Amino acid sequence: MDQQAETGAIKNLEDMSELVSLCKRRGYVFPSSEVYGGINACWDYGPLGVELKRNVKESWWRAMTDRTDIEGLDAAIMMHPKVWQASGHVEGFTDPLVDCKKCKSRFREDQIDAALVAQKKCPSCGGEITAPRQFNLMFKTFMGPLEDSAAVVYLRPETAQGIYVNFQNVLQTSRQRIPFGIAQIGKAFRNEITPGNFIFRTREFEQMEMQYFVKPGADEASFETWKELRFQWHLSNGIRPEKLRLHQHAEGELAHYAKAAFDIQYEFPFGWQELEGIHNRTDFDLKRHEQFSGKKLEYFDEVGKERYIPYVVETSAGCDRTLLVLLVDAYRAGADRVWLKLHPKLAPYKVGLFPLMKKPELMEYTDRVFADVRKQFRTFVDEAGSIGKRYRRQDEIGTPYGVTIDYDTLSNHTVTIRDRDTMAQERIPAEKICQVLQERIESWKP
Ligand code: GAP
Repeated sequence: MDQQAETGAIKNLEDMSELVSLCKRRGYVFPSSEVYGGINACWDYGPLGVELKRNVKESWWRAMTDRTDIEGLDAAIMMHPKVWQASGHVEGFTDPLVDCKKCKSRFREDQIDAALVAQKKCPSCGGEITAPRQFNLMFKTFMGPLEDSAAVVYLRPETAQGIYVNFQNVLQTSRQRIPFGIAQIGKAFRNEITPGNFIFRTREFEQMEMQYFVKPGADEASFETWKELRFQWHLSNGIRPEKLRLHQHAEGELAHYAKAAFDIQYEFPFGWQELEGIHNRTDFDLKRHEQFSGKKLEYFDEVGKERYIPYVVETSAGCDRTLLVLLVDAYRAGADRVWLKLHPKLAPYKVGLFPLMKKPELMEYTDRVFADVRKQFRTFVDEAGSIGKRYRRQDEIGTPYGVTIDYDTLSNHTVTIRDRDTMAQERIPAEKICQVLQERIESWKP
């Protein structure tokens, strides 16, 4: 079967539990602190997960900083507590929390069906629910030895504020001119009321955010540009176009800082959900930091000889959520195998090397090929079990290519290269493995 195209129906992911189990079994994602029974909604990335995550970040970082108008930043997670007063998070970063008096379940009121809310009914058991209480999502801790109100600091709920408070530092040191952007990848924390759906909504996660500073009045055009660029980025990672859409925030949905917002949504097995947000944040944040810090956060336009507080267009993607989308979108199940159709540039391993049998002459040849290929491509050598089993093990973790070294290799220095998606095999000169891999990775189409 390995030489033929897949026959019969090919299924996509229908149930998240299949993916959760694959991720655990193959080393993508483990439940956190599992030896202690785990901790709700916390996950650890295993050997494959950490590689995929690095590749996601690399793809994002390149898309952002392989241009002359965007600079990078890595700000601290803990910031001056006034930052969060200025940003509006202390006052307004809340979700309406309701409890069921009968079954004690806890919900976000805005996620319950409106008819049930009107009747004050629990969606789980039909019992009576409490009136909503506004629950702030920021994690609080204390800096230093004293646990009093003067020592309270927050774990940042978004990375964006680190960018705003460094606006002047970056502007002056990089000598950028408006329009320009600042990109940052880092952890963010939210004490979510209803985390879940695997790594979709967790309390600790990574964001990939970029704030683009523009002249007031140029914000709407820039917003349109970034909406399009970000949508294209997800497509460039191989996500199926029919699974992505843009959703515009209605007036009542807008965050406290936004004049306009679009979500890029993905159709998960549990429905259409946000993957990335693009926001027109106006001059809200810089203005508030001016007020609260007393420091000028203006820009002087040397050409127009005018001063202004720039407007900001923000692109904000979840790194974990992007990784989840990639895995969900890549999942395929056929009659005899499961494979992850990951874009080869993102796959943890680019190639599997398989000596046909565990014989010294084949192993030696494999070692020589490995020493060469691994310089350019992350390579996994597997010599255990039948060749079909080895192909399927690599298929299941998304390795796009497999190279088999057999007895013909020893005599004519050719190897078989197998394609994960089509299972087609081709015999090529061993000396051309790297060149062929490079060509195939570059020309891969979803
Ligand atoms: N700075 C703007 C901001 O944080 P957001 O829409 O609240 O906007 C942006 O978050 C992205 O961060 C989301 O689209 C999502 O990908 C990710 N994200 C937010 N909360 C998350 C959570 N609890 N778990 C995982 N990812 C999350």
